[in-house]
Amino acid sequence: MASEPMPRWKRRAYNIEALRAEARRVLPRAVFDFVDGGAGDEHTLRRNVSAFESVDLYPRPIGGSASRDLSTTLFGRRISMPLIVPPTGLAGLLWPDGEAASARAATKAGSIYCLSHGSVCTLEELAETGLSPRWFQTYIYTDRGLTHEMAARAADAGYEALVVTIDTQMLGNRERDIRNGFVIPPRFSAGEIANMALKTGWLFRMRNAIPKITFGNYRRPGGANDLTTLHHRMLALPDQGMQWDDVAALRAVWKGPLLLKGVLHPADAAEAVANGVDGVMVSNHGGRQLDGAASALDALPRVADAVAGRAAVLLDGGIRRGTHMVKALALGADCCTIGRPQLWGLAVAGEAGVAHAFDILRRELDLAMGLCGLADIDSIGPDVLARPPAAREASAPAETPAAIPTQGNGADDDAREDAAPEPAPVAETGGPAGPEPTRYGDWERKGRAIDF
Ligand SMILES: Cc1cc2nc3c(=O)[nH]c(=O)nc-3n(C[C@H](O)[C@H](O)[C@H](O)COP(=O)(O)O)c2cc1C
Repeated sequence: MASEPMPRWKRRAYNIEALRAEARRVLPRAVFDFVDGGAGDEHTLRRNVSAFESVDLYPRPIGGSASRDLSTTLFGRRISMPLIVPPTGLAGLLWPDGEAASARAATKAGSIYCLSHGSVCTLEELAETGLSPRWFQTYIYTDRGLTHEMAARAADAGYEALVVTIDTQMLGNRERDIRNGFVIPPRFSAGEIANMALKTGWLFRMRNAIPKITFGNYRRPGGANDLTTLHHRMLALPDQGMQWDDVAALRAVWKGPLLLKGVLHPADAAEAVANGVDGVMVSNHGGRQLDGAASALDALPRVADAVAGRAAVLLDGGIRRGTHMVKALALGADCCTIGRPQLWGLAVAGEAGVAHAFDILRRELDLAMGLCGLADIDSIGPDVLARPPAAREASAPAETPAAIPTQGNGADDDAREDAAPEPAPVAETGGPAGPEPTRYGDWERKGRAIDF
């Protein structure tokens, strides 16, 4: 039987950077920049990726395996590889029903999709698709009633985990968006409008979806629900004075896994664990918030030390290669995320594009593990690094995790060069693989097990 010819976009998008170039080709410049850009001088955005270059691998070819097992367990759920989709708002601007398309690809890849508070669809609409596993991301709002309402809606709609993002209490200085007029209400120049008109594929696909773009989760029956009104409402909501007590209060009401996203400091990681958090996402929001913040990878080893296996550690930011995942896991992460790579795939080919991003990274991870002599995810540790974390830290004065005090409860690089194998089988889901299901805590033992 003759195999289907590979579509042109797929041939061109042979790695994540090439997928990004394809996304640049198909998206209006303002939309591409909204996804691609970071805050201020984009120092942190660049560092998120370049930090991986200062970590080298030490392969041990003898003793590997003819086939690698890339699967792992996160909160009792078996996933096909240590890679999930973090929350990314306005995915529906890249592809019609973008959130559902992306969630479909992620779940078919045996991964997890986290819906953003700022999704175009409502959290209930995504739940109606039946796609699972699903997580939901929210904030601590000035109106604590709203914080708890969002959590209750997510619980009612069957979301498994709640991600609370703590680094967006003020909106970062996204200068590409200002330059492009990608603000609310939009202030596009004639040049931007002309550029948009050239992107005929996107315009045609999105012709019915564009008028309906809004922040679905903030819609109120009978109220004004247009993008501008809802955006202004949203910006006023996150609390710049949130405290650890607020995390503890959410912990008390949210029965599933609770994650904090935006943790860089080891003391905050320890505090998160002390407040009952089940997972920390080591993240600077993909360089979109505080420019000058440490890269996620640089922050990772100290966070992992502080957590000391008591919660899951997720590396969020800069993953573009399979080797990046090996390095992150060797430095203490249990899992990684792909924000922009998933969105670039979505922009290029909807569900198939996101699936392609997963395929690329799966193939690269398998190759990296094979060449390093690593048979499975659990065999990835510090000894795969040429310079293990302890040596990397030696020159930096750092508190030991035990000494970290806890209080108890207490968005242009302007380089605009306009530029697979069969999907791996979805890993078996349905519970822990062995007697020690997770190495970061007592999720099952706490009796908060959820229906996997
Ligand atoms: C277009 C876009 C929208 C995002 N929206 C959200 C959001 O609504 N909530 C959130 O916590 N993080 C959001 N993020 C940050 C991502 O969750 C993630 O931290 C970041 O993309 C990781 O970096 P990476 O793109 O290098 O993978 C967004 C990122 C992008 C690129």
